[in-house]
Amino acid sequence: MCEVRLTGISKRYEGAKGGRATIERLDLTFPSGELVVMIGPSGCGKSTTLRIVAGLEEPTTGSVWIDGKDVTALPPAQRDLAMVFQSYALYPHMTVFENLAFALRIRRAPEAEITERVTTVAEALGLSALLERRPKALSGGQRQRVAIGRAVVRKPKVFLFDEPLSNLDAKLRGEMRREIARIHKDAGTTSLYVTHDQIEAMTLADRIVVLRDGDVQQIGSPLEIYQRPANRFVAGFFGTPTMNFLSAAVEGAGGGRKARGLGFAVPVPAPAELGGEVVLGIRPEDVSLEPGGDRVALPGAVTLREVLGAEVVLHVTSPAGDVTVRAPAQTPARAGDAVTVYLDPSALHWFDAQSQVRAA
Ligand SMILES: Nc1ncnc2c1ncn2[C@@H]1O[C@H](COP(=O)(O)OP(=O)(O)O)[C@@H](O)[C@H]1O
Ligand SMILES: [Mg+2]
Repeated sequence: MCEVRLTGISKRYEGAKGGRATIERLDLTFPSGELVVMIGPSGCGKSTTLRIVAGLEEPTTGSVWIDGKDVTALPPAQRDLAMVFQSYALYPHMTVFENLAFALRIRRAPEAEITERVTTVAEALGLSALLERRPKALSGGQRQRVAIGRAVVRKPKVFLFDEPLSNLDAKLRGEMRREIARIHKDAGTTSLYVTHDQIEAMTLADRIVVLRDGDVQQIGSPLEIYQRPANRFVAGFFGTPTMNFLSAAVEGAGGGRKARGLGFAVPVPAPAELGGEVVLGIRPEDVSLEPGGDRVALPGAVTLREVLGAEVVLHVTSPAGDVTVRAPAQTPARAGDAVTVYLDPSALHWFDAQSQVRAA
């Protein structure tokens, strides 16, 4: 068991434009045994953070702690980590067996132990029949399996994954995702997993760290992040199709306050300290073409109908802006039809228009 901690980490690259640091005073704890996913748009500093943990990059300020020990000055080889990259970087002249065995040979492990560990890992990753092949005779998915196996065979204190599945097609990505989940469940090794893919984050993570421009936006379980995004950026980052955002202004006082936008008005939730301009977020699954309960009506017209099979996605233009609706496949509405969409007020996410921070 092994906790990883970053304290006051900043990274400024020599000659980087604008002079802004890539990472500014990052404090993060990766709890022992958890799989933590760091997610954010390209260029937000995910790889840099991971490379600093690995010791491949030196932080400009701050310290890296592994298992209660300050390892900031230690070279990668002395940190007992294993890293899996997007590019597999296998040794082309070695067989699968030798690729898997390599780190153990460096460590001068006894031959019997090498054979035992390589065989076990190959079995677990479905590589047993491929042990005598060289990397060029493997498919992309098989190569990535070997890359993961090479990390697993070492039994490190910490796994670091940097977008390990980005080069694979969708079906293989799903399979490998489940494989990684199983490996983590079995070994319980602390794992830091970097991706820009929200599905990987939602399905793999015990905890998600959302990054933007080197700053932490939110830390939480996948469901917390989905159900209570801390700000508009996080709200828009998770969910397909993306959350709808409607501008409104809070009117009146006391219990009867309403937020009014173009074409709609919704009651303000009682305890919320809300005022002035707000942005209301609502997910496409919380918008319906059916009235009912205390749903709030918004008039509009369908501009596009996308058939996904099990459901349809309707793009509706309204006075308040474009609204995306997830509806059952049998929904008759077609492009050009006038419709009324209904918003579930209990499903609204309230953001302050200025700060973009969650208000209710
Ligand atoms: N060696 C480097 N020299 C200068 N700038 C770099 C270097 N590596 C990364 N950067 C910059 O730091 C920022 C973050 O990069 P990176 O950590 O790779 O982002 P991510 O992995 O989230 O896509 C980017 O703006 C990138 O251009
Ligand atoms: Mg990266």
